[in-house]
Amino acid sequence: MTDRTATLRYGQRELALPIVNGTAGDDAIDIASLRQETGLITLDAGYGNTGACTSAITFLDGEAGVLRYRGYPIEQLAESSSFLEVAYLLINGELPTREQLDDFTANVTHHTLIHEEMRRFFDSFPYDAHPMAVLAAGTVGLSTFYQDSHDIFSPAAVEITSMRLLAKLPTLAAWAYKKAIGQPYVYPRNDLGYAPNLLHMMFAVPAEEYQVHPDVAQALDLLLILHADHEQNCSTSTVRMVGSSHANLYASISAGISALWGPLHGGANEAVISTLERIVADGGNVRKYVDKAKDPNDPFRLPGFGHRVYKNFDPRARIIKAAADRVLAATGADDQLFEIAQRLEEVAANDEYFVKRKLYANVDFYSGLIYRAIGFPKHMFTNCFAIGRLPGWIAQWKEMMDAPETKIGRPRQVYVGVPERAYVPIDERG
Ligand code: SDX
Repeated sequence: MTDRTATLRYGQRELALPIVNGTAGDDAIDIASLRQETGLITLDAGYGNTGACTSAITFLDGEAGVLRYRGYPIEQLAESSSFLEVAYLLINGELPTREQLDDFTANVTHHTLIHEEMRRFFDSFPYDAHPMAVLAAGTVGLSTFYQDSHDIFSPAAVEITSMRLLAKLPTLAAWAYKKAIGQPYVYPRNDLGYAPNLLHMMFAVPAEEYQVHPDVAQALDLLLILHADHEQNCSTSTVRMVGSSHANLYASISAGISALWGPLHGGANEAVISTLERIVADGGNVRKYVDKAKDPNDPFRLPGFGHRVYKNFDPRARIIKAAADRVLAATGADDQLFEIAQRLEEVAANDEYFVKRKLYANVDFYSGLIYRAIGFPKHMFTNCFAIGRLPGWIAQWKEMMDAPETKIGRPRQVYVGVPERAYVPIDERG
């Protein structure tokens, strides 16, 4: 049994702070009374030691490489579930009955169309606009067509908004892509499942029938499952922060999409492929890029390696690497980048710099190879990540809204600027 309190000694003061126990993983010191009792705040750049909330959605153990959604190991969900079933699980807390899953699927299926007036929305962007910019803008833009459902305290409004977001993000992403390549928009089809519908909207053309390859659809569905939630990562924390101001769910999700875009976060999958392409163009010299990543004077870091939490292995990377083999075989895609990636992983895994810093391949290292083999251009990879992460964002936003302890997020700071000084008229400066 762990102690019930932690004692803080500061000067002549001694303060007993309560311990909050989790059902697994980290326990925490509750510092809610710290500033009032001591005048002190805590400082933790990047929040590596700071819990922002209690949560019952996802558990991960970075040392043991464990990831569970609502208690179910990611390996079992990857093996036996589907993305919409996982979305239902994350949002509702339990695996659905067959009837519940059928209803949920039908609900999502019948909200995949976006308002026809949004077609003009895509025309307002240059053809080479990054799809993450279009997705973030399009997501908050959806709210202008559904002003009847902004009430964040109405369960019905939150429910329909959740369905609309799950249903329409693939349509927004696919139409952003079609606009960029000058092809006609392909409308969603109600006779297709979630992943096949995204593939059809992305790759079908009016000139011929497009057949979704079942192995490809299964691989995409698997990737969406593996990206569906990841506790309090940067983009999820952003969704919670924005939601804590009582901004509506569209606005909160749009903010999460923007946070995910960063190359240190969801943008890494695109950066991995760019780096692998650079290595190929540079004669396949893997060691050169590993050494470049180790050079303290070079800002280059190896995309797809390292993680804030996983310090042994990312369980998702293992599953994706195995799936990459199957997709490459199914699509006959060239596996030159996959071969380079495997060599890069092997060199890094045996390099003292990477081993000492516990830098291993993360979810983004191999996922881009699958997206690429499926046919997605690399600037669409993070859109796929966002579509996968959406149910997790929704679940975390709802949990934040339902938590009685939730307040508007407002961290404090340690001020290190200049002390008070008087205003100087402009003619007396310089
Ligand atoms: C995701 O949080 C989540 O859960 C995120 C995510 C999710 O599902 O939501 O899992 C998705 O974002 C995965 C991560 C994708 N990002 C990348 O692959 C980008 C490359 N990785 C790095 O930028 C980095 O590893 C981070 C940002 C992911 C994590 O950084 P940390 O844990 O804060 O580590 P750090 O930046 O403090 O680095 C520690 C040391 C440093 O060297 P020293 O100063 O000790 O000499 O490791 C080095 C860093 O320079 N380092 C790397 C490196 N990552 C860290 N060196 C070379 N290549 C790298 N990739």
